[in-house]
Amino acid sequence: MSIGLSTISYIAATILFILCLGGLSNQETARRGNVYGIIGMAIAVLATVFGPRVGLAGLPWIIVAMVVGGSIGLYAARVVQMTQMPELVALMHSLVGLAACIVGYASYIDTSIVLSGAEKSIHEVEIYVGILIGAVTFSGSIIAFGKLSGRIGGKPVLLPGRHFMNLIGLLIIIYFGRVFLNVESLSGGMFALTVMTIVSLAFGVHMVMAIGGADMPVVVSMLNSYSGWAAAATGFMLGNDLLIVTGALVGSSGAILSYIMCSAMNRNFISVIAGGFGSDGGAPKKPAGSGGAEPAGEVTPISATETAELLREAKNVIIVPGYGMAVAQAQHAVCEITSLLREKGVNVRFGIHPVAGRMPGHMNVLLAEAKVPYDIVFEMDELNGDFPDTDVSIVIGANDIVNPAAQEDPGSPIAGMPVLEVWKAKTSIVMKRSMASGYAGVDNPLFYKENNRMLFGDAKKTLEEVHAALKGGA
Ligand code: TAP
Repeated sequence: MSIGLSTISYIAATILFILCLGGLSNQETARRGNVYGIIGMAIAVLATVFGPRVGLAGLPWIIVAMVVGGSIGLYAARVVQMTQMPELVALMHSLVGLAACIVGYASYIDTSIVLSGAEKSIHEVEIYVGILIGAVTFSGSIIAFGKLSGRIGGKPVLLPGRHFMNLIGLLIIIYFGRVFLNVESLSGGMFALTVMTIVSLAFGVHMVMAIGGADMPVVVSMLNSYSGWAAAATGFMLGNDLLIVTGALVGSSGAILSYIMCSAMNRNFISVIAGGFGSDGGAPKKPAGSGGAEPAGEVTPISATETAELLREAKNVIIVPGYGMAVAQAQHAVCEITSLLREKGVNVRFGIHPVAGRMPGHMNVLLAEAKVPYDIVFEMDELNGDFPDTDVSIVIGANDIVNPAAQEDPGSPIAGMPVLEVWKAKTSIVMKRSMASGYAGVDNPLFYKENNRMLFGDAKKTLEEVHAALKGGA
């Protein structure tokens, strides 16, 4: 492929990636956005593999690598559960970081690149910074994967003098950066790079280990951003414009997403970027997922039949889905109840918290899969003020995102996190299996409120019972 054709292909791929991101910002256009992304990536890969910079001798290597990598990716995508997506994403980010490191070392020892003066210095800065970002992304993502998959405890690990240790690490990195730029021999440069890589790997581990389980979503999105910058750095090292643009797109969209999630959890964006986030006030009382918070009052249970009666008499209903809906795969049952109620003239809407579930857009994806109409799915801010005019609010497998302690208890680990105010409805019904706490490991005073009812059981099974009761009484 000629240089001209390869450049045109890269421009086309870049445009398709931008269209892809634009499409993904809205549920109705998300599918189209994904198609743009797939076509853009196919063009990018073909233009690179058959481009002017790959010789015939390199092709078999690339094809073997693509078959192996593609098969692993295909297998992982097929077997992964929706609830395991964040950990898979974290693992993928680690690979981007690892690739940046390997490309960095390869660029440095590549004797075919002979540069001098300012060009040499710029190339070496690209290598040093690329490996630095790549190593932090790699080790940080591995720890994030461990925490999200439960292989590593969710509790923040706070070493004494950790900020001081980070500062020392930073100084070592700056010092060896200077050594690297001034050293003449390859072995001297390799030594400086190796020391910096080890310190960066340790920094990535240290940074993510210090973050509490409840704050992991922001970390995953932040590592997503880091992986984008690592890819952009790789693009600079390889002189590949498409990689630079794509990396910058991922880096900046990841940073924007982190910012949105920070606002949703009432966290400070700067402190997240600086690392060590969530280690003080944000630390969960109990390890995430322990479900161990002690019940603090009496709850009023309700049956599926009674729930159906309440729904039948309601005019306005708001449904708030959470992680439990994903676990139970209850989205189709929810959709059937929604259709039935809407046929009866009930105004049913969905309220989606930005960090409901375990990944951004988790609930939207499930509801879209069940074909819940988009126009009745609202973001938290769009309907939070409507709860006082709501007859019944139904919480399906959600916990932290509807916890009034975020507003009422300044000492709560989730204090200040914006939540859906379901308790302001005439009656709220919480569907879950037990009194266990949610991801943040904190008790939920909503369960004990006078106007709240608990509908215990697996969300899918219970919703099917409610649906049957609704139909039966029609
Ligand atoms: P959680 O607070 O984790 O609560 C989920 C609830 O679902 C649990 O209390 C659980 O109670 C219930 N549940 C589990 N399986 C169920 C089933 N089969 N049927 C019925 N209920 C079931 O979820 P949330 O309210 O969606 O809040 C999300 C939390 O995850 C936040 O703390 C957020 O920070 C964190 N997080 C979010 C993300 C993103 S980006 N969305 C990523 C990682 C972490 P039982 O065990 O009693 O049933």
